[in-house]
Amino acid sequence: MAIQRTLSIVKPDATAAGNIGAIVARFEAEGLRICAMKKVHLSLREAEGFYAVHSARPFFGELTTFMSSGPCVLIVLEGEDAILRNREIMGATNPAQAADGTLRKLFARSIGENAVHGSDAPETAATEIAYFFAGTELH
Ligand code: CMP
Repeated sequence: MAIQRTLSIVKPDATAAGNIGAIVARFEAEGLRICAMKKVHLSLREAEGFYAVHSARPFFGELTTFMSSGPCVLIVLEGEDAILRNREIMGATNPAQAADGTLRKLFARSIGENAVHGSDAPETAATEIAYFFAGTELH
């Protein structure tokens, strides 16, 4: 096992519903450490840049409009196997398929408004963290 860092985003649906505290508490209860955290309202351009890998997908416009519709909380998590652990805690992308007790089962409404994002691999984690945070902001 290796100590990893991963990017989590509490999406606009979850911030609007007042679920920031519950989600952050869950990460800490699961043994993931908060390295950095900030609340931001992404511009459409920032959301398009972050999700550029999905730019050819039919849902790209819906996704980026939603992600820029209200504030998000950007979090860098650290811990043993943090990338996989965070994905287990989040549950399946589609909340209808998410396991009981996962964040998306508890807090998500739909595949588009699914409460949280998490990096899917070490390379994407590094890219995603650097997209939002300077090295000096990670503690
Ligand atoms: P996320 O983990 O942030 O990564 C890409 C996002 O695209 C994903 O969560 C979903 O919110 C969104 N997404 C994936 N598939 C669909 C879809 N079929 N319709 C709308 N949004 C989708």
